[in-house]
Amino acid sequence: MFRASPRGPVRAAESLCVLQLTDTHLYAAPEGCLLGQNTGRTLELVLDLALQTLARIDVVLLTGDLVHDESPEGYRYLAQRMEALGAPCLWLPGNHDKASVMADIFNSGTVTAEGNARESAWNFVLLDSTIPGQDGGHLDSGQLALLEDSLARRPQDPTLVCLHHQAVPVGSAWMDTMALDNPEAFFGIIDRHPQVRCVLWGHIHQEFSTVRNDVQLLGSPSTCVQFLPGSAEFALDALTPGFRWLRLHPDGRFETAVERIATYPDPLVFSTAGY
Ligand SMILES: [Fe+2]
Repeated sequence: MFRASPRGPVRAAESLCVLQLTDTHLYAAPEGCLLGQNTGRTLELVLDLALQTLARIDVVLLTGDLVHDESPEGYRYLAQRMEALGAPCLWLPGNHDKASVMADIFNSGTVTAEGNARESAWNFVLLDSTIPGQDGGHLDSGQLALLEDSLARRPQDPTLVCLHHQAVPVGSAWMDTMALDNPEAFFGIIDRHPQVRCVLWGHIHQEFSTVRNDVQLLGSPSTCVQFLPGSAEFALDALTPGFRWLRLHPDGRFETAVERIATYPDPLVFSTAGY
C-alpha cells in the first residue's frame, strides 16, 4: 500500500520512487473538458491508480501543460492535490501554461520549481523549454547555462533532466513541428556530462522511449487524452490516460514504466481536427 515519504532528506543509500504526471490540462471550472474528457476527473482516476500501484512516492514531477485555460483556480486545485500526496513536487511549464500564474501559486509548501528540493543521490534538473505565445520549444541561453551549471556542480551524481518538449523527433509529423528547436545545443551539453542517465518530457501525450549515446530518452502519456503515435496529422489514440513511475537507484541504475487507467470515464471525441 501507498505510504507518503517521511519528511526530510532521503538517505543517499535509498532508491527514489518518482511519479511523473504530465499534461493534466485542467480548467478553472471543475466540469472543464478537453476533447470530451473531464480533465479533472481523469487526473483523479490516474492519481487513484498511482496510489494503488506505487508502494511509496518520494518525488512528484509535473512536466507541463498543467492548466489549459491559464486559470489560477486550475493551478490552485493542482497544488492542493499535490500537497495531499505528502511528497516534494517539482514542476516545469508547458506551452499551454501561464508561467507567471504558475509561479505565483506554486513555489510554496511542497510544490517547487527547484530541481534539488531535497538531498538525494540523484540530481534533478528541470528546464523551461517554452517560448511565449508559441507551441514549439526552445532552450534559451539562460536555461542552457542552468543545465551546464547544475551538471558541473554535481559531476558524480546520476542525473535526470526534465523539460516539456521532445528533444528528438517522435515520428509524428504534426507533433514534431512543435519539438525542441535547438536540440544540438542541448545534447552538446548532455554529451559532455556522462552522469546524465535519462531525459524525460511530456507534451507528446504518448509513451516514447529511445536511447541516444547511452542516455535514455522518455516521453509519457497525458493524464487526459492521448495522441496517436506515428500519425502524420493530429489524431487521438484510444489508449487510456496514465502516469509514469521511475525507481532511481543510488548507483545510477533505474527502472521505469507507464501505467494506465482501465477505461475512459466519458466517450472520446474523435472527430476533432485539433486541440
Ligand atoms: Fe499537452
